[in-house]
Amino acid sequence: MEAKPFLKWAGGKTQLIPEIKQVLPIDFKKTDYTFIEPFVGSGAILFWVLSNYPNIKKVVINDINTDLTNTYKSIVSNPLELIDVLGQLQAEYHALQNNEEVKKEYYYEKRTLYNTRSTDQTVHSALFIFLNRTCFNGLYRVNSKNHFNVPMGSYKAPNICDKSNILAVSEALKKVVILNGDFEETLQETTPNSLFYFDPPYKPLSQTSSFNSYAKDEFNDAEQIRLRDFCERLDVLGHKWILSNSDVKGKNSNDNFFDDIYANFNISRVRAKRSINANPDKRGELNELLITSYLNHAQLAV
Ligand SMILES: C[S@@+](CC[C@H](N)C(=O)[O-])C[C@H]1O[C@@H](n2cnc3c(N)ncnc32)[C@H](O)[C@@H]1O
Repeated sequence: MEAKPFLKWAGGKTQLIPEIKQVLPIDFKKTDYTFIEPFVGSGAILFWVLSNYPNIKKVVINDINTDLTNTYKSIVSNPLELIDVLGQLQAEYHALQNNEEVKKEYYYEKRTLYNTRSTDQTVHSALFIFLNRTCFNGLYRVNSKNHFNVPMGSYKAPNICDKSNILAVSEALKKVVILNGDFEETLQETTPNSLFYFDPPYKPLSQTSSFNSYAKDEFNDAEQIRLRDFCERLDVLGHKWILSNSDVKGKNSNDNFFDDIYANFNISRVRAKRSINANPDKRGELNELLITSYLNHAQLAV
């Protein structure tokens, strides 16, 4: 079985795979690349690359969210125990299907337990997956104390324990280096022929948009520019990269933020659907930017 993302994640990139495929370096299937994803989230592109490019020599993932990267690590080191705990959580949760009040109590009890961060690592990772599967829209949002504070979602019988996928993910991740830190720290894992895929928290398209509240610290414009500086450094060092972000210009034609900061690189505009949005009116199609540091890929229609 092919490993797939085991989480729902705001900005999950499954829908962008066909476009990303078109901008991969022309020699990506043949050369010994190191593939690096510094903002891995649910890893939509990671799992696609692992399944489709077995030639890749080394794979590195990173995220600043420690609970997330520890969950990846638990899947590698302890898949069977993790499946046991998830199976138990699923059985208990499904048994409460017809009793909304008790189900709610159960959800908040598990959320409180998660926020104590006092259980062992495998149980904590199981709680992380449980909350992701049962919370409102699969969002991950924490307050200033790093307490997860998303309310319960309204799923009847969510799939909490996907045993065969966890086993497939565990196998697939065996060749992956898992880091937990700032995106710049991935530089230490590069080899000649490295390709980075950057999917940072998106620049919000509107004031109310909450797409980038993944971690305690906000990813603001200064952070977007720090990322651009890092991309420039990689380019000078001879590494290739692909970066996606929201097309702020599509919303406001005077907003040249990304066109300006990435003026020295190759910008394509692609259509993409976003499904995680609290407001159904905003779930429609939006433009996204795909920016590359190199040109030898199939040209995209703008
Ligand atoms: C748009 S999401 C990535 C979504 C991912 N491509 C997917 O398919 O699910 C951005 C991720 O960046 C992480 N992040 C935020 N600031 C970061 C930083 N300074 N360094 C590394 N990761 C960061 C967030 O925790 C979040 O998981």
